[in-house]
Amino acid sequence: MIIGVPKEIKNNENRVALTPAGVAEIKKHGHTVYMQANAGTGSGFSDADYTSAGATILPTIEAVYETAEMIIKVKEPIAQEYNLIREDQLLFTYFHFASSEELTHAMIARKAVCLAYETVEKADRSLPLLIPMSEVAGRMSIQEGAHYLEKPLKGRGILLGGVPGVPPARVLVLGGGVVGTQAAKMAAGLGAHVTIMDVSLARLRYLDDIMPPNVDTMMSNEYNIRERIKVSDLIIGAVLIPGAKAPHLITRDMLKIMRPGTVLVDVAVDQGGCIETCKPTTHENPTFIIDDVVHYCVANMPGAVPYTSTLALTNATLPYAIQLANKGWKKACQENRDLLSGLNVVKGEVVYKGVADAWGLSYTNVDDYLEMATV
Ligand SMILES: NC(=O)c1ccc[n+]([C@@H]2O[C@H](COP(=O)([O-])OP(=O)(O)OC[C@H]3O[C@@H](n4cnc5c(N)ncnc54)[C@H](O)[C@@H]3O)[C@@H](O)[C@H]2O)c1
Repeated sequence: MIIGVPKEIKNNENRVALTPAGVAEIKKHGHTVYMQANAGTGSGFSDADYTSAGATILPTIEAVYETAEMIIKVKEPIAQEYNLIREDQLLFTYFHFASSEELTHAMIARKAVCLAYETVEKADRSLPLLIPMSEVAGRMSIQEGAHYLEKPLKGRGILLGGVPGVPPARVLVLGGGVVGTQAAKMAAGLGAHVTIMDVSLARLRYLDDIMPPNVDTMMSNEYNIRERIKVSDLIIGAVLIPGAKAPHLITRDMLKIMRPGTVLVDVAVDQGGCIETCKPTTHENPTFIIDDVVHYCVANMPGAVPYTSTLALTNATLPYAIQLANKGWKKACQENRDLLSGLNVVKGEVVYKGVADAWGLSYTNVDDYLEMATV
């Protein structure tokens, strides 16, 4: 198969969908890879790195879309890319259709095959192509939180790990899923005293077993949250209710019972945030202050560490990309239900219920669609 990797053109997006190692792996399976010039520069990979791995460099984005049967990307196509997409072309990337009606209609009109990273789902309901970014954001939340706890950045002026004779900072992690677990591990590793709250007792049992002694677990409820935020220096918002807006576990009035200089990092801000006063911010201007409490609410945290994020993402996407290249999208999806659940829009038809529901569109069940398509 002929595979094309365009350079990401969305503002501030430095990730790339294939690393030189990924190119070498795909080449081993007998496929051809075209990279757009400078596609990997933002992640630290040069065109020479790609050519020595076996890719051919094309000068323009137009040439990549024109040549490739499968396009592998990171972010959803933006308006200037819509007309480059060809009928029957396979696009494997993040789409987040339910948050853009314009993109949904554009992809229906282009009649491409849109396989979305974010809905590829394993039998245990985990989302293997979202997990790596949650891992990055979870670990990063402590790094950022520690930074903003410094006095010149309006924090409490407390060192996470303390020093001999001075107690460490207290970190509260709301939600003990992927983000929360990675955050707790990082904070504990730096010597902080960590509390993880979750509504799942099974999850708390698991975390209690695997975490080091400076991490304790607590049931998440309003009473416990009110008690804990009074003494916490850094609070990480990491809750997720699949398919719904995040619940506001910390409300506006609760800021008053926190100590001045407390830092809130609401990682869940991309789902509306679990702290009422959080509004999405950017890496250029990541924080704002309300009632002397520092709010960090960057909606695309992994974007600040494109090298790590690219490697983490491609480690997870590459095995699926190889299946798609080896078998073609139809056979690959028929033989692997993880990939099947990634199909969102196929040749003008919406085959993912969440997307159809979001925009009031007609919907064809994906199994029925494939059956019809193979006849
Ligand atoms: N800002 C960013 O750059 C960025 C990057 C990656 C992920 N995220 C977001 O981070 C959030 C967490 O993602 P995840 O992968 O860890 O999800 P996850 O599903 O692995 O974990 C969510 C956890 O929240 C718990 N939870 C639900 N309701 C709760 C409540 N009321 N109190 C306490 N815990 C509760 C669940 O039991 C679960 O353990 C998501 O909104 C995700 O989109 C943001």
